[in-house]
Amino acid sequence: MRRLSDLFLAPGAASLQRCLACGATWPELDASATCRDCGGLLDVVHAMPAAQGAALLARFGARCCTHPGSEASGVWRFAELVMPGASAHVTHPEGNTPLLSRRMVQDYAGVAALRLKHEGHNPTGSFKDRGMTAAMTQAVRAGATAVACASTGNTSASLASYAAHAGLPALVLVPRGQVAMGKLTQSLAYGATTLLVDGDFDDCLRLVREAATELGVYLVNSLNPWRIEGQKTIALEALQQLGWDAPDWIALPAGNLGNTAALGKALREARALGLIARLPRILAVQAAGAAPFAAAFAEGFATHPVVHAETVATAIKIGAPASWDRAIRAIRETDGIVTAVSDDEILDAKAVIDASGVGCEPASAASVAGVRKLRALGTIAADARVVAILTGHVLKDPEIIVRYPEGGAATSRLANRPMEIAATLGDVERALKARAR
Ligand code: F0G
Repeated sequence: MRRLSDLFLAPGAASLQRCLACGATWPELDASATCRDCGGLLDVVHAMPAAQGAALLARFGARCCTHPGSEASGVWRFAELVMPGASAHVTHPEGNTPLLSRRMVQDYAGVAALRLKHEGHNPTGSFKDRGMTAAMTQAVRAGATAVACASTGNTSASLASYAAHAGLPALVLVPRGQVAMGKLTQSLAYGATTLLVDGDFDDCLRLVREAATELGVYLVNSLNPWRIEGQKTIALEALQQLGWDAPDWIALPAGNLGNTAALGKALREARALGLIARLPRILAVQAAGAAPFAAAFAEGFATHPVVHAETVATAIKIGAPASWDRAIRAIRETDGIVTAVSDDEILDAKAVIDASGVGCEPASAASVAGVRKLRALGTIAADARVVAILTGHVLKDPEIIVRYPEGGAATSRLANRPMEIAATLGDVERALKARAR
């Protein structure tokens, strides 16, 4: 376990940003998303909270979702561990997402104590809102005049919404033809300047990083360490919902690896502060066609492959993940595992989650597909307590639901086709009987 003094500054100190690669530190309001000396990833380091252990838990517990103002947010409830220096927040609010228990999904995964942390219940329908409320609050504090991101769709939807709320112009770069309709329409509706780039996500990220440096816009991709601070609250809130009795595993889909990094940082800090007695293991799940991190894990992280990504789960169609080093730390510190699942496994898991009435977008289902896979391998025990994070809402990607019956997925048995009928009672009756068969 890491020492408290490694993870936190002296009580009362202002937060700072520290480079993971070279150790250089930068003031909390410095607007560069990466280290100005070496280009490395930054980590935010906060002052030690005045209260710790049970006293800090009591403080978090007293701020609940019925509280007026920012404390109604499932992010700002944990302000000491997100951005203690901010006195005003750009918040909708967000978070306060449910932790669900559904027999159908538990049976499918083979884990009776599986819970689903459904981040699709956030204001723009994905977990990104947690990081975005932090990044947009920081943009305002740092005096940004415009904000930008590259995205596979959810970050851009979230950015567009929070920028509109903050009154800042927003620029989003997304790969043309590779963003689900629900997400693209959100970015347009919320008024972001939306650029359809002739390239993939990795091209978009390269381009927006250049634009941020050259054109002076504030970058809010999860490279930005404040995004990570906000995203940590998925774990904090799930732990709070479990009475701070840590589960054995937390499973999540992994693309650009910001969320994996955030989960690791949240758990490390929660453990050091005495909020939990032991660390859950992280299970990061990639799509097989976009799995450079899983490939590196299999080789003890001795390699750093970059792949040309292909997967039906467009949200995680990423070949050169940005938060690589931070995510390695998260996996190592939690004795975590990185695995990959096929598109068929993703679509089948999604069909089960959908049919249970919960619903999620394809990338989100990778977490449940990964739990099922590791259960079958015996790595996850049948009686393990597992939280699987569902990252996005079912309506994010409506096309895939209509396409699923036609696709090559292994268990199209769950596919639900619409039936065309004449406007007669007889046809309604025939349809009912056909359905019952
Ligand atoms: N699930 C969904 C629904 C996502 O949108 C993303 C990432 C992930 C999982 C993976 O999280 O990147 O932190 O490892 N979407 C980003 C975006 C890349 O632009 O919306 P990650």
